[in-house]
Amino acid sequence: MKELERLQKILAAAGIASRRKCEEMILAGMVEVNGEKVTTLGVKADPAVDTITVNGKPIRSEKKLYLMLNKSKGVITSANDPQGRKIVTDFLPGIKERVYPVGRLDYDTEGLLILTNDGEFANLLTHPSHHVPKTYRATVKGVPHGSALEQLQKGIKLEDGMTAPAEVEYHDVDTENNEATITITIFEGRNRQVRRMFEAIGHKVIRLKRIRFGEIGLENLGRGKYRHLTPQEIKDLLAVAQSKTHKVHKK
Ligand code: URA
Repeated sequence: MKELERLQKILAAAGIASRRKCEEMILAGMVEVNGEKVTTLGVKADPAVDTITVNGKPIRSEKKLYLMLNKSKGVITSANDPQGRKIVTDFLPGIKERVYPVGRLDYDTEGLLILTNDGEFANLLTHPSHHVPKTYRATVKGVPHGSALEQLQKGIKLEDGMTAPAEVEYHDVDTENNEATITITIFEGRNRQVRRMFEAIGHKVIRLKRIRFGEIGLENLGRGKYRHLTPQEIKDLLAVAQSKTHKVHKK
């Protein structure tokens, strides 16, 4: 998919100079896109596709980054928050590139969040038709009956329509505290979907953590910590987004 951006922004992101200085360079006729000189401002290009040169030298496009963060509760999945709350990029010390989250986790949800500056990769993973599996541990008030979990498994009616079949199993039942922890894998990504699914069977979610996204798991990444995905993990995520059938992990 094309990610068109203004030329001066692309040049600045590639470390050529400040955006203002890059504008001057464009006006001075130093910049070409696919062999054609650009001398006006407002021209857009896609650094992943177009060849952009400054004084005949191709620019280096921004390095692609793929990160996994173990998001804590009380953090906004957003690149900025006008109310000044903590945002996920506050937890990426040392990352200068502008990365953005792949999908969302609620303010109160913790766990695995992928961040990248690769728009195409993000689109592939979040496109509804790709049904990328996402696995959550949901601790709920009360202990749902097996028949209620079966309903979640088959699909349940929510105000925005039926949910697709899900994988559901008990992880832990705490009768003393009247709570249960359920592992649930969904193949969609509707707003507050897991919380709403449990509400629909009469159980309020009191803790929600995403433990797996596609083929990759959170494993032992500490809360609030991030790491770079390995090349194999990036490949696996792309494979899962592009495949029609998905393996389901029962962990
Ligand atoms: N489902 C939810 O209800 N919340 C999330 O953050 C993710 C999935």
